[in-house]
Amino acid sequence: MSAPQQPADVPVIAIDGPSGTGKGTIAGALARRLGWHLLDSGALYRCLGLAAERSGIDLDDGDALGALAARTTVRFDGERVLLDGEDVGDEIRTAEAGPRASRVAVHPQVRDALLSWQRAAARPPGLIADGRDMGSTVFPDAALKIYLDASPEERAKRRYKQLIDKGIDANLHDLVKTLRERDALDRGRRHSPLTVAEGAFVIDSTALPIDQVLECVIDAVRRALPAIDVGTRDVSPH
Ligand code: C5P
Repeated sequence: MSAPQQPADVPVIAIDGPSGTGKGTIAGALARRLGWHLLDSGALYRCLGLAAERSGIDLDDGDALGALAARTTVRFDGERVLLDGEDVGDEIRTAEAGPRASRVAVHPQVRDALLSWQRAAARPPGLIADGRDMGSTVFPDAALKIYLDASPEERAKRRYKQLIDKGIDANLHDLVKTLRERDALDRGRRHSPLTVAEGAFVIDSTALPIDQVLECVIDAVRRALPAIDVGTRDVSPH
């Protein structure tokens, strides 16, 4: 059965880009500002990677992973991410969880299994969809497509600071290397690679503080969706 199309009457804002660009923070702040739903699609791949590891499934076995995706449930409850009912918020944010998610994400069987689930997240009044292929594959008719970018060195520095602030030991050189590897996997895969979707508005955040990135995004929303009230609610992205 083919996946359902994006509901025509629900506006979607797609925010794509590589890891460490502040996408998740911007997507969350924008969802609060507009009062819209939020889809953190990366969390789905992270959950699936964790479920695969727990079940002892080989991360190169696309068929087994596709079947696992079809029988696994992931639910978002505020800040909590529930994998088959269990809160796995910490387990899916470890250093290994990102690269493991990228390995799971290369398989078309997995991507197909997650497609209808992601499209079903488009519910009124609207959806902010955060990921790698939101504008290119999952929501090609999105009302606005944003592509957030930043240099690998800057992204690694941000990640380094986050880890050190949390008291976790980190090595900047290793972080740059891991980020580059993950970028290569995400950009080089055959199915739904990370790419700038047609018509996307590209923002390079290398030299921009997060508040200014949010301002750029809100300006883009005003231009693309003039009928939407972007409000003035305080949605500090920090
Ligand atoms: O965004 P996040 O870092 O949580 O994503 C983890 C991994 O999941 C990414 O590196 C990517 O391989 C995969 N992913 C994807 N498509 C998406 C979202 C995430 O392939 N829409």
